[in-house]
Amino acid sequence: MKRLQYRRRGGPEVLEWAEVDGPKPGPNEIVVDVKAASINPTDIKMRTGELGVANMFGEPFPKGMGLDFAGIVREIGQGVSAVAPGDAVTGLSASRYRGFADLVLIKADKVRRIPDSVTFAEASTLPMGAATAAKVASKYLTPRPDQADYHVAVLGAGGGIGLYTVQFAREAGALVTAVAGGLAADALRSFDLDRVLDYRTETLAASGTRFDTIIDLSDRYTYQDVEAALSRNGCFRTMTPTMRHLRTLATERRAKAAFALADISGLDKAIAAISKKRLITNVGATFPMENAIDVLRDFEEGRLKVVGKVVLTRP
Ligand SMILES: NC(=O)c1ccc[n+]([C@@H]2O[C@H](COP(=O)([O-])OP(=O)(O)OC[C@H]3O[C@@H](n4cnc5c(N)ncnc54)[C@H](OP(=O)(O)O)[C@@H]3O)[C@@H](O)[C@H]2O)c1
Repeated sequence: MKRLQYRRRGGPEVLEWAEVDGPKPGPNEIVVDVKAASINPTDIKMRTGELGVANMFGEPFPKGMGLDFAGIVREIGQGVSAVAPGDAVTGLSASRYRGFADLVLIKADKVRRIPDSVTFAEASTLPMGAATAAKVASKYLTPRPDQADYHVAVLGAGGGIGLYTVQFAREAGALVTAVAGGLAADALRSFDLDRVLDYRTETLAASGTRFDTIIDLSDRYTYQDVEAALSRNGCFRTMTPTMRHLRTLATERRAKAAFALADISGLDKAIAAISKKRLITNVGATFPMENAIDVLRDFEEGRLKVVGKVVLTRP
């Protein structure tokens, strides 16, 4: 089988296609024939080392790449009964056999069947993007039962997690202001949100609303940038609590980190919402998997201007 891999940390130049032995499923494991795999900023941070301590875990070099995948179960190991060969499934890969490859090896309880109405490309945007968004919305963007007019702002609402986050937050009863740029802002206007702001021309402070929660998925804002738009007890939460936030996170009552690790419960919520037609999927563009190195280079260097997720597909 072919897989995309890297032998050392770095930019897209460390990527190579390799021919490796296909995996054999152990007890409770399955092998999946990959049909689609979406690209996440976290894939790139894992390769470059930007995830810090989290980078110390995982398989040895050479490492595979690609968290999200969707495909068809090819082989099942002993003890697997939840899925069978031929089933269409999606999940978050976590072994040497990751999504940017012909085959994924994964525990059977880490995948879910794809509803008939959902394509492989759409399904591959769910395990990280929608599952994280479901977590973000339930942890940070859901009003208490006694809380009327709970105003939230999602910065980076046009991204892989953001497009799902605004939908889950609205479903949870929040009044949602989405902040995105250009085409993404245009797309969000059809989502029936409280307000959509284009970050190129508009600011939260000028909107007049004072927000209970402002969550930043774009990694472009500090607490100081949005302080004026917070309500008295409001809170700015960053999804990327890097060094530049350390000081404010330590000293400002209204600045906090947000953690929302995608897991199977988030994927269950996303699939349930899609099955009820309450979640719009967000495939922005698809490219053949064989072009993955070029596509990743363009993605990382900001040349791919698409609204929604970039997905690599296999026939
Ligand atoms: N803390 C956690 O537990 C956790 C878990 C999962 C992921 N994450 C992190 O969460 C982040 C978001 O992930 P993602 O997949 O949604 O990333 P993404 O797809 O790259 O989305 C980021 C979005 O921010 C937009 N943006 C850029 N500048 C902006 C600005 N000034 N104002 C508003 N929006 C702006 C980008 O649009 P343009 O096209 O206009 O640039 C893009 O649509 C990543 O950094 C990821 O590593 C954190």
